[in-house]
Amino acid sequence: MIHTNSDNPNINKDRKTPPTIIVIFGASGDLTARKLVPAIFNLSKDELLPKRCFLIGYGRSKISDEEFKDDIKSALDSHSRRKIEDSTWNSLEKNLIFHAGAYDDLKSFTELEKKISKIENKIDCKAQCLFYISTPPGVFMPILENLGESGLARRHRGTKTASKVIIEKPFGRDLASAQQLNQVINRRFDESQVFRIDHYLGKETVQSLLVQRFANSIFEPVWNRNYVSSVQITVSEDLGVGSRGGYYDKSGALRDMIQNHVMQLLALTAMEPPSSLDPESIRDEKVKALKALKPLVLGGDSPDVIRASYVEGLVNGSPAKSYLEEKGIPDESETETYAALRLYLDNWRWKGVPFYIRSGKRLAMKASEIVVQFTRPPAILFGQDSRLKVSPNLLVIRIQPNEGVTLYLNSKTPGLETKLQPIKLAFGYETTFGSNTPEAYERLILDSLNGDGTLFIRGDEAETSWGLLTPVLDYWNNQGREGLENYASGTWGPLAADKLLLGSGHEWITGRKYE
Ligand code: BG6
Repeated sequence: MIHTNSDNPNINKDRKTPPTIIVIFGASGDLTARKLVPAIFNLSKDELLPKRCFLIGYGRSKISDEEFKDDIKSALDSHSRRKIEDSTWNSLEKNLIFHAGAYDDLKSFTELEKKISKIENKIDCKAQCLFYISTPPGVFMPILENLGESGLARRHRGTKTASKVIIEKPFGRDLASAQQLNQVINRRFDESQVFRIDHYLGKETVQSLLVQRFANSIFEPVWNRNYVSSVQITVSEDLGVGSRGGYYDKSGALRDMIQNHVMQLLALTAMEPPSSLDPESIRDEKVKALKALKPLVLGGDSPDVIRASYVEGLVNGSPAKSYLEEKGIPDESETETYAALRLYLDNWRWKGVPFYIRSGKRLAMKASEIVVQFTRPPAILFGQDSRLKVSPNLLVIRIQPNEGVTLYLNSKTPGLETKLQPIKLAFGYETTFGSNTPEAYERLILDSLNGDGTLFIRGDEAETSWGLLTPVLDYWNNQGREGLENYASGTWGPLAADKLLLGSGHEWITGRKYE
């Protein structure tokens, strides 16, 4: 839920969740160390976790509880946004347990069940279990099946302490695999127990998008085909694939970023106002927006999709190698590290308005932005004279970094001559609210403990997004390397991506200097 006032757990601090046991599958993974453990400890520091909270790390390596505690401590030292004081560490440290087991071995899960029951006996009350699946996607299915088979999925079902499961991305690799995952989930869990994560939804600025749209009366009347000429969404990164080549090469930009993060930003930008702030109303509207997206044109002279992979170049002044030279990338790789798409929604509000979206690695800078470009005013008073250049108004919503919102307007430059120049009305989160906002994972873990699915992906949302993009993946698969463009590291991507906008009077805005 987008919390309004007294229901906000961040304000109440009443620790209303029952005693909790968080089990992380993939406990020795990178995400656990970088994001999950710091999030859990920061929640504890803010007194937002139940007083009796246990963390069980589940992994294949046979390490002791003591070694696990050491790993957690060093993860916190390296990655927590705030220093963890001894008092917070001491209160949770004694509740850290490691459970060594395989993911496809039912016996390991029944042993986990025994450990959980033992904790409940010790604290003499029922605890809710939160199972966090943070493993490589290949073992999602066996984990879900074994949670069901061992009875862990059904613990205390129908009560406040019912088990919950968070599933990390990627949720499937195409429509068929997402449907298969959903089938297993539906067999083993109620949808209310399931939290498919997309960490972009936990970002402050993404949550704030709905507030900007629906708590201000000036935007909604112009948020449609009559006043908006295009919407652009850019999610760019300057980093390459780093040590994740093995995973990334099987994934690519479309699966890794577009299918989830970018499509979520699009759905939140395009959706109709929900009838209330409850999770299902919001998710219903997002699904409707995604369902309105027209199938993409893949071949021909003006395809709606462009893919490319990076070659060497200069990123922030330092030389960067090409994708094919990165660790773990096969010479014959056909994987795209950049994808750009032109989409249209076939609905009343957006008919004919292009949504240009793009995402890539090793681009000029890290930036996630939504740019709403408004129609030009009629060229009657100012526009008819080329000296009086009237720029279209832009609303730029910066998701990260330098989170904020900027509105570009035309203004007269001071002087005796009438000259126009775009100026900006800018709001920056940090200037207004200060820094140190909670990390996305803090919000998402807290919401899942409270059983609030608003900021998570519902099964049909994932399937709708895959339904649109799976034909693209199939088409690329058939094409092999044909049509896979190159771009130099440190640039804004392949020239071919400009073709998506050709003839429309639009150009990519993020990264262009307009100030
Ligand atoms: C992850 C992707 O989901 O998001 C990564 O798997 C990507 O490849 C990351 O780097 C980007 O997240 P953020 O929060 O840094 O924008």
